[in-house]
Amino acid sequence: MGAGIAETAVAAGLETVLFDPFEAAAASGAERVRRGLTRSVERGRLESETATAAASRLSVTASLEDLAGCDAVIEAAPEDLGVKQGLLASLEEACASATMLATNTSSIPITAIAAGVKRPDRVVGMHFFNPVPRMRLVEVTPAMQTSTQTLERASELGRGLGKEVVVARDGPGFLVNRCGRPFYGEALRLLQDRTADVEQIDRICRVGGGFQMGPFELMDLVGIDVSFAVARSFTELSFGEPRWRPYPIQARMAASGRHGRKTGVGWYLYANGRHRPDDPAPGAPGGGDGRALAVAGTGPLAARIRTLATAAGYALGSNDAAIATIATDPGERFDGSGCTILACKTSSLAAWRQARAIGFNLLPTDDVRLVELSRGPMASDADAASAEELFRTFGLHVEWVRDAPGLVLAAIVVQIVNEACFALGEGVAPPNDIDTAARLGLNYPRGPLEWGSALGWRYVHDTLDGLWRERREERYRPAPALAHAAHHGAMHV
Ligand SMILES: NC(=O)c1ccc[n+]([C@@H]2O[C@H](COP(=O)([O-])OP(=O)(O)OC[C@H]3O[C@@H](n4cnc5c(N)ncnc54)[C@H](O)[C@@H]3O)[C@@H](O)[C@H]2O)c1
Repeated sequence: MGAGIAETAVAAGLETVLFDPFEAAAASGAERVRRGLTRSVERGRLESETATAAASRLSVTASLEDLAGCDAVIEAAPEDLGVKQGLLASLEEACASATMLATNTSSIPITAIAAGVKRPDRVVGMHFFNPVPRMRLVEVTPAMQTSTQTLERASELGRGLGKEVVVARDGPGFLVNRCGRPFYGEALRLLQDRTADVEQIDRICRVGGGFQMGPFELMDLVGIDVSFAVARSFTELSFGEPRWRPYPIQARMAASGRHGRKTGVGWYLYANGRHRPDDPAPGAPGGGDGRALAVAGTGPLAARIRTLATAAGYALGSNDAAIATIATDPGERFDGSGCTILACKTSSLAAWRQARAIGFNLLPTDDVRLVELSRGPMASDADAASAEELFRTFGLHVEWVRDAPGLVLAAIVVQIVNEACFALGEGVAPPNDIDTAARLGLNYPRGPLEWGSALGWRYVHDTLDGLWRERREERYRPAPALAHAAHHGAMHV
């Protein structure tokens, strides 16, 4: 991270000193900076002369005294409170009293790091993302002791480095890592319950949710040991918040030494080329051929199904003549001919008490590309085949999973929205910053609050409530801000 920050700084025109107490590490850091600049020239992101000028702004040292003339120091030492406090205390001695001392910690409270120096008002969090030169965000976090002036200087420095700055309150995972928790947490839960397997959950997130990578691929990239340590640190810092508790399946993987890409095996095997098959190409709607289809329900999901059915050439008709009846809300009449397909939106098929039916769920957004299907224990093969054929004619990719409330994607997405609503309610950051942080820091296809608004606050709330009713776990409780938005029909901040 140190090399990435230094590369960004020299490219932004700042005279930069790269310090590492280990000479070999300092030299390899400088080499990484130079390689990064060369790569930027090769990829057409930097002019050759600009890169040469940038490289000339870098000096390297293994002696802390050489930082004496710096206006600001950003530390990216190992993630350990003692190491960081010790380093900042030495910097306080070596540097001028006006020098700003920033820490790139991703999980240690800034307030605790600042408590280790004599002048904590000049300590601040500046959390960069990997790879630093490419990621456009920096999260700036004041400690309780940080002065307004230091906070302003850190924000200005972040912008000077060409980054979008969000200011996040000090707390577990600040803003970005906190918003990212449910992506892993619910995926692990779904795997542990065997609702779907690793490849399926990842594909559903990519194809159905528009995420660049699935949660398991991402854990393999970050390191399963690292991601388990982060989950433990969230639990510790929050004194056991149920939403952030790790899962035994994660602990077992961490203990096995299968830590992801860096060990050649994690949730996937990285020995022989691609670790997974390519995603299916998007389908085209068509093939309804005027057949009658009944759709019962009034909410956004029913509206989306009607749009998809019409585009595929079905005639929306009564239950009696229909080849299938799709019901989206409990309480709807669906006792017609053909197969019965019920939305597992706020409940599982089991909770609908419909053993012969087929369950389904999809996110009711314009860009929907995937549907999840499940079968009741007594559903016939013929009904399963006709439900699959029906959704394929809608142009959707079909993924069969086990019966569960919300099934896979909606269960994950509503919790991403819920976590953002908790952060909003607790004053971690304002709405726009929450969305910017998730899009730029986590590469999410939408900001979580934008997602909540697109899906409808009532939809998000009721899906979450369904998870809570069937699983009876505190981790599924709706955030107060979400509950209010669902009742009022809009998010009021
Ligand atoms: N890796 C990431 O994706 C990422 C992202 C955001 C933030 N961070 C944070 O950045 C920091 C560094 O992470 P990293 O992944 O680059 O770690 P790393 O282990 O790759 O690098 C740490 C560097 O610190 C040096 N070092 C050791 N003791 C030191 C000391 N006393 N003073 C100064 N330098 C010392 C080491 O020689 C090494 O070069 C951590 O706080 C981490 O949480 C990491």
